[in-house]
Amino acid sequence: MKKLIVCLMIGLGWMSFAYAAGDAESGQGKIAVCSGCHGADGNSMIPSFPKLAGQGELYLTKQLIDIRDGARSLPQMTGILTGLTDQDLADIAAYYSVQKGTVGATDPEMLELGRQIYRAGNAAKGVAACSACHSPSGAGNAQAGFPALGGQHADYVISQLKAYRTETRVNGQAKLMQQVAALMSDKEIEAVASYIQGLSD
Ligand code: HEC
Ligand code: HEC
Repeated sequence: MKKLIVCLMIGLGWMSFAYAAGDAESGQGKIAVCSGCHGADGNSMIPSFPKLAGQGELYLTKQLIDIRDGARSLPQMTGILTGLTDQDLADIAAYYSVQKGTVGATDPEMLELGRQIYRAGNAAKGVAACSACHSPSGAGNAQAGFPALGGQHADYVISQLKAYRTETRVNGQAKLMQQVAALMSDKEIEAVASYIQGLSD
């Protein structure tokens, strides 16, 4: 019951974000400055820089607005989004959301633990299953604004889970990820990140 209420609250929370729909074609003309770090098609080659290809438009638009406005602190992108309007950011988000994401590999030694956490969580500690919100295939839930994870660089996933754990990343809804990450060990974080890197539809 408690879970149900939390889910309802999340649903309502996310529905209150109403962003204009982006135009992918127009977005393509606005990403020249991003390509060096995120790749021309949103598949970054650098493991600590996130892949954006195939990510949900709603999630991306919210992150871009939060990064521009400082709600998500991101030193590497300081000044890059200054002067871009909400519509520009929605267009950029639309462009990346229709690109095809590449998939990496899972370290065979971490496969079992990583898969277990992703699909079932850690009941003894109360870690929720990632698949419940991010979907079994890692595609996320675009409408709810839950990000896709499948194929994402393990290094980036590790850095974000640790940032949620220490609450240095706090712009998300209802502190959902902070609650999940707070209970995870470094070993669990590394295993689930490796699993995610090789996960696809
Ligand atoms: C100098 C390198 C660099 C440039 C240029 C850059 N970014 Fe980033 N971006 C990063 C890094 C590094 C992160 C992740 C930082 C962290 O939180 O660890 C990031 C994160 C993001 C995220 C969050 C992704 C997620 O999954 O939550 C988005 C969205 C994003 N960048 C979009 C853009 C766009 C659009 C541009 C161009 C207008 C751009 N970036 C330019 C380095 C860069
Ligand atoms: C109750 C729903 C829920 C569960 C369970 C959940 N997540 Fe999340 N996750 C979210 C939401 C919502 C966000 C976006 C939060 C934000 O904006 O910071 C997110 C964001 C993330 C991100 C950042 C993505 C990016 O591109 O920056 C990672 C990594 C992540 N989750 C991994 C996990 C892992 C691993 C698990 C399982 C151990 C998990 N999540 C369980 C809802 C959930």
